[in-house]
Amino acid sequence: MPDHCTAADFIESSARRIDAALKQRLPTTGTASARLESAMQYSVLGGGKRIRPILCLASALAVGQPESRAMVPACAVELIHAYSLVHDDLPAMDDDHLRRGRATTHIAYDEASAILAGDALQSLAFGWLAEAPELSDRTRLQMVTELARASGFAGMVGGQAIDLESVGKSLTLSALETMHRYKTGALIEASVRLGALTADPADPAALERLSAYARALGLAFQVQDDLLDIEGDTKVIGKPQGSDIAKHKPTYPALLGVAGAKDYLTVLLDQALSSLQDFGPEAEALRTMANFVVARTH
Ligand code: IPE
Ligand code: IPE
Ligand code: MG
Ligand code: MG
Ligand code: MG
Repeated sequence: MPDHCTAADFIESSARRIDAALKQRLPTTGTASARLESAMQYSVLGGGKRIRPILCLASALAVGQPESRAMVPACAVELIHAYSLVHDDLPAMDDDHLRRGRATTHIAYDEASAILAGDALQSLAFGWLAEAPELSDRTRLQMVTELARASGFAGMVGGQAIDLESVGKSLTLSALETMHRYKTGALIEASVRLGALTADPADPAALERLSAYARALGLAFQVQDDLLDIEGDTKVIGKPQGSDIAKHKPTYPALLGVAGAKDYLTVLLDQALSSLQDFGPEAEALRTMANFVVARTH
């Protein structure tokens, strides 16, 4: 992070560069279905904090790499995230109508278009990654493998399955943590690891320290998401407050209470920051992101 840059400036300016890169790369070909392409654009553009792609860029900076090497992997991660949100909001899943302050994709379009837009965004993500510039074939392949694992049955999708199977049940703390690690943590860890892999080849010790940072942050991210469902304001969070409670979702505040969940958030922030202690100013953007994730209001 440049010395003169405040944390808010860094996050804002990185998000705008990511928005521009996403906009430039998303298809507007009209080749197959203009409606499908429009639903894809709607799902990706026009909102979103871009936390995962910013983490990817920040992690590249931490290993001394320029942002340009990490931009396409960062965008690929955001496509997976956007697809996961479109499907998460569907009637068969969380059945939510508001996302990023506007109608969810299945409301703005229709259910079939939302399912297909999600499907298309997922395959597009891997296509982009396979063609990411400035990287060796070996690194691109490793990135594809890692993103596939983090997105699929042993990652985000697996976590979503546990989430839905757990509705109305009271999970143990360790089962809840497992669910969060899969559902949200895996993609956040992949975001950071893909950034670090731009070192091409990455130093294994640095990669492990950054992964430890990401594991703590990934969990913290979902704990704060659960807290915002209780304490947030629909207008600020841009999605319906109280959705988890209405659907009897297993969450950290449900298990630990609001105060307990907040204490746990502090512990996780400390863990994330201490994983970076061997890094110098080059990891400042990652430190900024850790503080942002636990303090965010939306
Ligand atoms: C929301 O993620 C979904 C979860 C994994 C909890 P974000 O809070 O990063 O959503 P956007 O991308 O900023 O809308
Ligand atoms: C969603 O978790 C995690 C995903 C993999 C999309 P939530 O269901 O809590 O996310 P929000 O609160 O709807 O954004
Ligand atoms: Mg959900
Ligand atoms: Mg949801
Ligand atoms: Mg939530």
